[in-house]
Amino acid sequence: KVWTKEERYRPYQEWDKTHLALLQENIANSKWRLGYHIQPNTGLLNDPNGFSYFNNQWHVFYQSYPMGAVHGLKSWYHLTSDNLVDWKEEGTKVFPDSLYDSHGVYSGTALPVSDQLFLAYTGNVRDAEWVRHSYQLGAWMDDSGTVRKIETPLITEPPTGYTSEFRDPQLFRYDDEYLMVIGAQNEAEKGKILTYQSSDLLTWQCKGELEFTDKEMGFMIECPNLLVTKDAALLIFCPQGLEPDICSYENIYPNTYVIGDSYDSEANRLIQPTALKNLDEGFDVYATQAFQAPDNRLLSISWVGLPEIEYPTDQEEWAHCLSSVKELLIKDKKLYQRPVAEMKQLRVGEALEFNKDSASFFETDTNQYELMLSFDPLSCGTLTLFTNKEQNKGLTINFDSQHGKIAIDRSQAGAVFGEEYGFIRSFSVEQKPLELQIFVDSSIVEIFINEGEKVATMRVFPETHQTGVHLECDGGYQGKLWQLRKTN
Ligand code: FRU
Repeated sequence: KVWTKEERYRPYQEWDKTHLALLQENIANSKWRLGYHIQPNTGLLNDPNGFSYFNNQWHVFYQSYPMGAVHGLKSWYHLTSDNLVDWKEEGTKVFPDSLYDSHGVYSGTALPVSDQLFLAYTGNVRDAEWVRHSYQLGAWMDDSGTVRKIETPLITEPPTGYTSEFRDPQLFRYDDEYLMVIGAQNEAEKGKILTYQSSDLLTWQCKGELEFTDKEMGFMIECPNLLVTKDAALLIFCPQGLEPDICSYENIYPNTYVIGDSYDSEANRLIQPTALKNLDEGFDVYATQAFQAPDNRLLSISWVGLPEIEYPTDQEEWAHCLSSVKELLIKDKKLYQRPVAEMKQLRVGEALEFNKDSASFFETDTNQYELMLSFDPLSCGTLTLFTNKEQNKGLTINFDSQHGKIAIDRSQAGAVFGEEYGFIRSFSVEQKPLELQIFVDSSIVEIFINEGEKVATMRVFPETHQTGVHLECDGGYQGKLWQLRKTN
């Protein structure tokens, strides 16, 4: 199906009432629906928005276009949770229904303020000539989940010298004021992050460009996210069109980060920032959001999907999912990403335990499991997930812990997509006994290496009979496998 602009931006209420029901019926037959990840009921999901803790619950929203698997008229879809793994769908909460967001309620963040949740987001507007206008907007959500938009924009236009590619405000408290960092593009078409400051959430002053690198950040920065803790400052962002010699990447656009010793708000800069690094070594992570929870943990969640690439489920009129929630730790200016402790609540029963002397191939009943592997020092080998009886299909993970190398190949994992960006991701890890903790959920795999030193996330689209796990290794190992329960 070819989507016209008119269709993609058609107001939701003008769609035939049966449209969504029909999509849902077809999607119910998909072999790639997820068991315990956040996925759209219909249509397309992209960035996580407003990840927060409010009114004794976790909240996350996501960018949603419910009418099909394309980037159309976006809204915010809302979910709540008591434990970060069981999510309750609360429905679409912020609709593109005002003068300032008529062509999309774009990405943003949420912050609890007294007894309400303040939402900051970008209103996307196209004028009669289809020229983009970007407004930074605010809304209040009360404890019953009702959203009231603030009528006048928080910021009506980008400052002089910047284009209307100006979006994705991240709102946070800093000392006794509020700050917002916003993705931007200057008139020379360079990616920038602008910082704004406010004492009342309604009037905002531009503090200028956030300083965090002396390199050029491509043509646009999307989804900036600055976390300032007492020990460090972590900036996560998506630089589009970044030169790969600044930070090597193979995905269409990378999701990168830098860590500073701290943030100097006076000078609006990170102190002693590291070079850019990839947040994820896999194929599909973008638009990650993180915040410091009231229990002090730094928690993150990502879009698992990339802009401008077709995925096999597009045919089924749904696309993408959110990652599991991760806990971020910063030690010696290094970032560690671990599955949040609550993930254990998904385990069903006792683990199946195995080692080099037991079977090296087994079938999992479903592709919903957690696999933990600890290898002897200097081990080399290949782990294949989603393999079949003939063992000629699957996602292969080659590891060489002597040289600290990992290569993941998804070319034989199932339906082929994203060919242009390659089938293999190779990266280095510390040279020490390798530990892998892997979460598999029908069409997504999240691989945590050496307690979160590196993470690799990817979508794969296997056939239903591809439920085998095969491990070939020159050294000894201990393995555990838990079936995980479905939450969807
Ligand atoms: C990133 C992004 C954001 C924008 C949103 C629109 O994926 O392009 O910059 O706000 O998606 O859905």
